[in-house]
Amino acid sequence: MERFQFARDLATKHKRRRFLIGTLGVSASVIASQWTHKVVAQPSFSGYPFSLGIASGEPLPDGVVLWTRLAPEPLNGGGMPSVNVPVQWQVALDENMRNVVRRGTAIATPEFAHSVHVEVGGLQPDRWYWYQFKAGNEVSSIGRTRTAPARDTRVAQFRFGFVNCQDWQNGYYTAYQGLAKEELDLVVHLGDYIYEYGPQPGGPRQHNSPEIVTLADYRNRHALYKTDANLQASHAAFPWIVTWDDHEVENNYASLIPEENQSQQEFVTRRANAYQAYYEHMPLRRLSLPHGPYLQLYRRFTFGDIAEFNVLDTRQYRSNQPCDDGLKPRCSEAFDPNATMTGTKQEQWLFRGLSKSQARWNVIAQQTMMAQYNFDARPGQEVFNLDQWDGYVAARDRLLKFLQQQQPSNPVVITGDIHSSWVHDLKTDFNNPNSPTVGTEFVGTSISSDFPETFIPPTVAALSANPHTKFFDGKNRGYVRCHLTQNTWQSDYRIVSTIREPNASISTLASFVVPNGRSGAEQA
Ligand SMILES: [Fe+2]
Repeated sequence: MERFQFARDLATKHKRRRFLIGTLGVSASVIASQWTHKVVAQPSFSGYPFSLGIASGEPLPDGVVLWTRLAPEPLNGGGMPSVNVPVQWQVALDENMRNVVRRGTAIATPEFAHSVHVEVGGLQPDRWYWYQFKAGNEVSSIGRTRTAPARDTRVAQFRFGFVNCQDWQNGYYTAYQGLAKEELDLVVHLGDYIYEYGPQPGGPRQHNSPEIVTLADYRNRHALYKTDANLQASHAAFPWIVTWDDHEVENNYASLIPEENQSQQEFVTRRANAYQAYYEHMPLRRLSLPHGPYLQLYRRFTFGDIAEFNVLDTRQYRSNQPCDDGLKPRCSEAFDPNATMTGTKQEQWLFRGLSKSQARWNVIAQQTMMAQYNFDARPGQEVFNLDQWDGYVAARDRLLKFLQQQQPSNPVVITGDIHSSWVHDLKTDFNNPNSPTVGTEFVGTSISSDFPETFIPPTVAALSANPHTKFFDGKNRGYVRCHLTQNTWQSDYRIVSTIREPNASISTLASFVVPNGRSGAEQA
């Protein structure tokens, strides 16, 4: 989110919220059958069709999703004729693709921008595989992926990285250069995969169009981001689990309420465009096929007995930000008992999953900061970020009370959005330092998005007034590497030396450890 460019934001934004949610006359987008177009058996391309790379994701014990999109002219609508094109795929046990264990053909259709999403099954749990695509006479590079351990098996260790917020215009993806070289079983992306804005001069790179609105706009923007070699390398090295935040559609939208300068009907169409382009560019299962302005993204992944990931969507179903949004003292709306981040259905699904989980570490992968943070440390003063859970106090209380009462094993929240690194104890009462700690929150910085330097000193000054906050850093970009064993969780805040140049060195800024059975992190 761009909330933290808030000098600008507070002055100019939050003029929205004038739209009332009414009955929407939305019909699901018409997705024609793949057979309405001629299938071209031996296509030829105006350029290399795998220009956007390859990806895998959604790891289960018996399979993964393989993704690619044919785009010989990636920044100009893809450059494919309006025909169906067969794309062959194969999965092998070795990096040279000699020992092929699964193969097949998917049909890339114009309706989905010639993307393919292959749900490969019949694989062995907990092992590496390699994969490759072929279309016409062109072959893709070879990617590597990994299945999840079987549900009931004992798993000694699990390693994953989490990332978020990759504003193309603000810098290079040097963090992905480092991430691709890590030893990981999985990457989790917590949102702001793209940004919707028009070009802003002055940065190292520029966007390829004015603010994006149409399906063609969103496709070209995703394609621009996907041309980055470091991002492609990180996709090719690991399976990913993705969820979105706001900028995949528009800054700080809530449900079907846009930010500003558009009618609600216009925004419904825009959200449908954005959601469809998101599906087209991510390794998602059929569960997440878009239906007009709706797309199911919350879901759960289990990795043996060591970790279960509850992946949330806190944009599509949330109630409007209270008090006209922004950074400010809370008005009574922030305590509205009906306010929700997830919607009731997703909340119940989360509670059910946490109740039933057999995993040692129960991960809640989501978007905005869950812990309370009062940005104004002066006595009697308060400033809260109302787009975060601080604007949805009752919803947060329900979740934290649930954790206290049901005591699922080791709840750990991983968070993006705020373009800075944080570690928090999650308290049943943030205003009482002696209240129980019922979970741990790790907030990752950004791959490239900006945290304004002017805001670092006041945030640091407020730390003393927020004793449940163990760590804050606003200066550095990077990702978080997590190493889980049955006994401990360790999070390493990995940072890059620069995003202003295409290459950078990488180092660990700080490490935090959570012991099994005791919520709250300590610096390692
Ligand atoms: Fe962001």
